[in-house]
Amino acid sequence: MTDNTGSDTIPALRGRAVAEAAAAADAAALEAVRLTYLGRKGLIPALMGRLKDIPPEGRRDYGRSVNELKDAVQAAVDARKAALEEAAASRPAEGFDESLPGEWRALGTRHPISAIIARATSIFRSIGFTVAEGPDIETVRNNFDALNTPPDHPSRDAQDTFYLAGGDLLRCHTSPVQVRYMEAHEPPVRIIAPGRCYRRDTPDATHSANFHQIEGLFIDREVSLADLKGDLTHFAREMMGPGVKVRFRPHFFPFTEPSVEVDFSCHVCGGAGCRVCKHSGWIEIAGAGMVHPNVLKAVGYDRHGVCGYAFGMGIERIAMILYGIPDIRMLYENDVRYLAQFG
Ligand code: PHE
Repeated sequence: MTDNTGSDTIPALRGRAVAEAAAAADAAALEAVRLTYLGRKGLIPALMGRLKDIPPEGRRDYGRSVNELKDAVQAAVDARKAALEEAAASRPAEGFDESLPGEWRALGTRHPISAIIARATSIFRSIGFTVAEGPDIETVRNNFDALNTPPDHPSRDAQDTFYLAGGDLLRCHTSPVQVRYMEAHEPPVRIIAPGRCYRRDTPDATHSANFHQIEGLFIDREVSLADLKGDLTHFAREMMGPGVKVRFRPHFFPFTEPSVEVDFSCHVCGGAGCRVCKHSGWIEIAGAGMVHPNVLKAVGYDRHGVCGYAFGMGIERIAMILYGIPDIRMLYENDVRYLAQFG
């Protein structure tokens, strides 16, 4: 046998086919190679067709080597096909403009509540406050008794406060941090305590069963209501901008006397009235007052001859007016498309 499809040329044929497959520049060229060797009228089927011309004792070896050739060429074609496809997938689409800015990987953003806490903390730090913390699970004593809350006060009701098995509760305000801090430190005291609070409120646009407060406590020899007004007004201007108005209304809390409620003018409508401020132009931001003598007594501060002010303000409320968020629940639905706007 002298033609190039004889069994003695199988290794040469294999070398040529594999090299051609590997060199195929695109899918069409590769297909041409495949047809030349493996196609129905290709060289390898032709070799198979010669099996009958082979002397019987050589047929077995011949058949095996043609089969091996076929497998090797098929493998080379498959490998080249995969490589061409991979290259196509990673090749930029036509019209790719490499001067365009790259795509940014989406990074997390600060939750608006965390952002407000961070800003508020830095404002209070700048006027001499440090940050204190207390646990979410509190004793009845720290949450109510030591804060001069009478035994029949409605806020103690299981309708309002989450009690845990064993008698402790989820704090309904950050005021127990006052108690913890004063019991652990001598006066003077100038702290803020940001944290989570829990109440059995039915969720609506302005209520959530868990929310955040920043407690403030300033105890020294001569602290007055004027200090409270001055410090909270300073805070309001730093937080909301110089145009904000601050209003103090007489109120009642068991743990302060006198007590006030503190309103900021609505940042969303500038005080004209809108949905967020329920058309009043004002938003209630904090409860505050002069620390009640019974509280000072409960923590052993009566012997120091000191007095002070305390406040507790709602962080969600600040977030809502600062960012114009009309519904408190938006802060808790964790829709990142929404939250990412504020980071
Ligand atoms: N603890 C009060 C509340 O949650 C707020 C407050 C704090 C009032 C400190 C006076 C002093 O409503």
